[in-house]
Amino acid sequence: MRVPMIAGNWKMNTTVSEAIDLVKEMLPGLDQIDNVDKVICPPFISLAAVKALIKGGTIKLGAQNLYFEEKGAYTGEISPLMLAELCEFVIVGHSERRHYFNETEDIVDKKVQAALKVGLKPILCIGESLEENEAGKTKQVLIKQLSSPSARIYYFSGLILAYEPIWAIGTGKAATGKQANETIGFIRQHIARQYGKRIAREVRILYGGSVTADNIAEFVNQPEIDGALVGGASLKASEFLSIVRQTSEIKRRR
Ligand code: 13P
Repeated sequence: MRVPMIAGNWKMNTTVSEAIDLVKEMLPGLDQIDNVDKVICPPFISLAAVKALIKGGTIKLGAQNLYFEEKGAYTGEISPLMLAELCEFVIVGHSERRHYFNETEDIVDKKVQAALKVGLKPILCIGESLEENEAGKTKQVLIKQLSSPSARIYYFSGLILAYEPIWAIGTGKAATGKQANETIGFIRQHIARQYGKRIAREVRILYGGSVTADNIAEFVNQPEIDGALVGGASLKASEFLSIVRQTSEIKRRR
């Protein structure tokens, strides 16, 4: 049985004091929900303060990015070792990083390896653009993103995948539950062919892209979808709580 997961990617939002307020608002309700992994990913500078707030509870912490070197003269970067002291998860290869910061497959691969080396659990984001989707290239793009040289190591190390079609991110135009389920099913079959059925059964695959409290049920009602990576809606305490609650209830029934 795969434990469902809802992860909130706060992106470049909230000052430290705003992050503290947001966590305080969601903490009491969120802490009580037990059959879902609840992960929040605030900006780097708020990780320490948030860690102190959630201490002893059930909410887990993630970062939104990392650099692949352990330490040294890389002004402005944050290393895997620094993060390992603060959090359990790290988002890698988000399409915004691939697009705005020119992260290539090679860089993404190095980052996943660096995270695993220090025991951080990567949430690896994959997904196709609108043009690729319209040109019928979705499967081809996903296979390429899933075929890094170290992919084998990832799957044996408890990697989590997030399928985020780029056309659905921040657009309010989410995929349908059926579409997302089919694509995630395809990803799982690909993993089964490459790395075996057991790994494919165990790997958690989330959907991301315009997930809200109004549409989460449509996604988590699908058998292949293990939860969601939520952007905008994770910045509103009551909405994030509702997304996690609905996921808990729906997956409990399944
Ligand atoms: P939105 O939920 O704001 O569309 O963002 C999705 C996302 O990119 C999560 O990583």
